[in-house]
Amino acid sequence: MELVEIKEILKDLVVLRVFDKNIKYFESLWEIPEGVTYNSYILRTSEGSVLFDTVKHSFSEEYINALKKVVDLRDIKYVVIQHMEPDHSSSLKALKTLSEFKAEVLGHPLTAKLIKSLLGIDVRFKPVKDDEELRIGDTTLRFLHVPWLHWPETIFTYVEKLKALMSCDAFGAYGIPPHIISDVSDLRTQYVKFMRKYFVNIIGHYRDNVIKALDKLAALNLKIDLVAPSHGAALLGSNVINEVLALYRVWAEGKSENRKLVILYTSMYGYNEEIVKRLLDIVKDDRVRVEVFKFTSYHRDNVSDFLGEVIDAKAIVLVTSTYDNSVFPITKYILELLLSKSNAEKPLYIVTTYGWNDAASREIKNMLKASKFKLLGELTVNSLLTEADIQKLSNLSKEILTSLEVS
Ligand code: FEO
Repeated sequence: MELVEIKEILKDLVVLRVFDKNIKYFESLWEIPEGVTYNSYILRTSEGSVLFDTVKHSFSEEYINALKKVVDLRDIKYVVIQHMEPDHSSSLKALKTLSEFKAEVLGHPLTAKLIKSLLGIDVRFKPVKDDEELRIGDTTLRFLHVPWLHWPETIFTYVEKLKALMSCDAFGAYGIPPHIISDVSDLRTQYVKFMRKYFVNIIGHYRDNVIKALDKLAALNLKIDLVAPSHGAALLGSNVINEVLALYRVWAEGKSENRKLVILYTSMYGYNEEIVKRLLDIVKDDRVRVEVFKFTSYHRDNVSDFLGEVIDAKAIVLVTSTYDNSVFPITKYILELLLSKSNAEKPLYIVTTYGWNDAASREIKNMLKASKFKLLGELTVNSLLTEADIQKLSNLSKEILTSLEVS
């Protein structure tokens, strides 16, 4: 597999995708064993080319070599910087050093300041207003401000002649998929999981802004035949695009259209694992999809995956323990991220264990005060399960099934 893939997506639109297979933690935070791509696009027009975004600076040399195979750099009239996060913008610095690079840079007004502060370079820059149009040769570019998808300066660009929406982080995904997804079944079976995970990890905190952006697109009534994000695959055709737009709304609203139960547990010495085992004996049902994430002495699941699974779950269960007169530190870390990224009106159940002081439930409830989650059930266990605890756990498991609409 080449490091940089060059593919024509449509006539006059070429994608350059850098495959980052060795990355471990996107944003130095999110576990992504599936890797990620950085996508940059070249649009050919009758009056020169337009470059949409670049790639992460670590790949500038390979990217620019590939770009030169696609276009004479002197022919690039504009670079549209749709988002200044360095995974998209930072190869602009290397491009700027090349004498044949003469392009004007277009972006949100705030982008000019960020080019200086993040890249330390001066460029010929033209700010674009929301819904501003720019004619270039045989097409028009229409710029849409979509603040907080993912930073305040993020814009989409609509390329009229191709009916293509250049969307940067929005509608992007982790993984190294084919360059185009045009089949709904491929979308569902191979792609949605990574798109949902990217959505929650990266723009989950800004879900209200996602709804505003979706409403804006709907109000403009744009015909969109292609969505071209800066990670993952381009989405081609109305069936795929309509499904993705609908999924984005479901995730942004934190809705559940399933019977998915997500269980997260920590277990230092096996006591909590025993609780989860008993709980699973009751909640495992053909009608229920259960996703379990565990953090033990021998296994740690990915927090990034957990957050991605929560956003469209029907209910969540946390099983954890007291530690240093608070909640177990990993649970605290995950709970903070959960409240920031996947906070939604969903039933939540907690089971806490302790030796001499049940600090965990106190701390979790404190943290939940500011959340939208609905704490519908809790159980506190003093170390070993007693017969009474087992009965209470059985009752709690049945309540969980009821909340999943399985009675
Ligand atoms: Fe893919 Fe917000 O950067």
